[in-house]
Amino acid sequence: MRVFLETYGCQMNFADSEVVASILQTAGHSVVTEIGDADVVLINTCAIRDNAEQRIRHRVRELRAMQARNPRLRIGILGCMAERLQSQLMAEEDNVSLVVGPDAYRRLPELLERGAHAAVELSTTETYADIEPVRLASNGISAYISIMRGCQNYCAYCVVPYTRGRERSRDPETILREARTLYSQGYKEVTLLGQNVNSYRHADVGFPQLMEAVAGIAPDLRVRFATSHPKDLSDDLLRVMAAHPNICRCIHLPVQSGSDRILKLMNRHYDSAWYLGRIDAIRRYLPDCSITTDVIVGFCSETEEEFQATLDLFRRVRYDYAYMFKYSLRPDTYAARHLADDIPDAVKGRRLEELIALQGQIALENNRLEVGRDYEVLVEGESHRSKERLFGRNSQNKVIVFDRRDARPGEYRRVRVTDCTAATLLGDLIP
Ligand code: SAH
Ligand code: SF4
Ligand code: F3S
Repeated sequence: MRVFLETYGCQMNFADSEVVASILQTAGHSVVTEIGDADVVLINTCAIRDNAEQRIRHRVRELRAMQARNPRLRIGILGCMAERLQSQLMAEEDNVSLVVGPDAYRRLPELLERGAHAAVELSTTETYADIEPVRLASNGISAYISIMRGCQNYCAYCVVPYTRGRERSRDPETILREARTLYSQGYKEVTLLGQNVNSYRHADVGFPQLMEAVAGIAPDLRVRFATSHPKDLSDDLLRVMAAHPNICRCIHLPVQSGSDRILKLMNRHYDSAWYLGRIDAIRRYLPDCSITTDVIVGFCSETEEEFQATLDLFRRVRYDYAYMFKYSLRPDTYAARHLADDIPDAVKGRRLEELIALQGQIALENNRLEVGRDYEVLVEGESHRSKERLFGRNSQNKVIVFDRRDARPGEYRRVRVTDCTAATLLGDLIP
């Protein structure tokens, strides 16, 4: 069968789609790049917020027109929404005939032979360690390696523990083998992925030891990781990072709120003082490290003062980038069962706008400090605006756009920053 894969959600989902492609190809199916060529469309979905699910519902309904022209076209739902809604999804969207959760992808070839079916059993051990992903989204320069799956932190607002199951880490040998293979194929950057990547532990190998081993593969292989949970951001990890210049100077450390009462209600297992202590530790070990975050505004019972505490924390940390969200009730979570979603949408919206404005200002000020500095940039491709310009990222994960001259994608080049916006740095190649 010819299968078209469409992916939504986080980097883990994109990495999973590459595993799915591999499982399908090994079973003799082909993965097509044009949806019009497909016998089956598989949509790998996200359930993190209601608007993520609505977007997918809309897409599924949009595909009805395509099915009207090609009645044999099947639609399957994979990923977190499949796990959350299970066979209910087929009842509600009657053009969907396959529902497969994140731990059941090995069964896809068998399920494609069957009629309508849902396979949503979660596993405590599945890591897809032996499957070599088909690098679907890759530019041949940078690739994802999934190193752990699941989450059992049960933050009060979050659906992930229900959609992804228990936390489990992949055998380090298989991770190293995958990274070495990528390097030998010419890749220059790997990003280790997990819901809480720094909670990684396999027998006596913890995350710092794993990072040390991956960083040791080659000095010109950049290593990134996402997403870190503040509770497991250890000094050991920061020491390993400081000792290896090829581990990128960028830490994504979701804070969620600046208010201690809200953090407790959220079940985050830290308070703002502890979080700020971790930020100070990053600055101490890695003075040139960029720091980014996730945050939620308008969580259950959040007062104006508590929102102000989030603004204050943002002023204090001065993040380089932030993913900012309005709280979205997820059915069956602790918050949905025990707390009232009592902040009016208009108030959530106003708080979000205020935070976005503050963060935009901070990001611009941070970027202005970069003007005049030199960076080693891994060149990734042509700028969207002009073929004469290339873009790449520095170790801090900031995008730098510069005139092409003799530079080529896949090379490391030194670039001097000459100008900036809040989102991008502009620069000149240093000959
Ligand atoms: N494991 C990561 C986060 C994964 S989900 C961590 O704990 O840091 C990505 C982000 O989505 C979260 O950091 C959070 O900011 C946001 N998010 C999760 N559930 C949400 C909800 N119900 N409403 C709004 N934002 C949510
Ligand atoms: Fe969700 Fe919390 Fe797990 Fe992150 S740590 S995935 S926010 S439950
Ligand atoms: Fe979404 Fe699932 Fe990732 S809910 S954010 S795709 S783990």
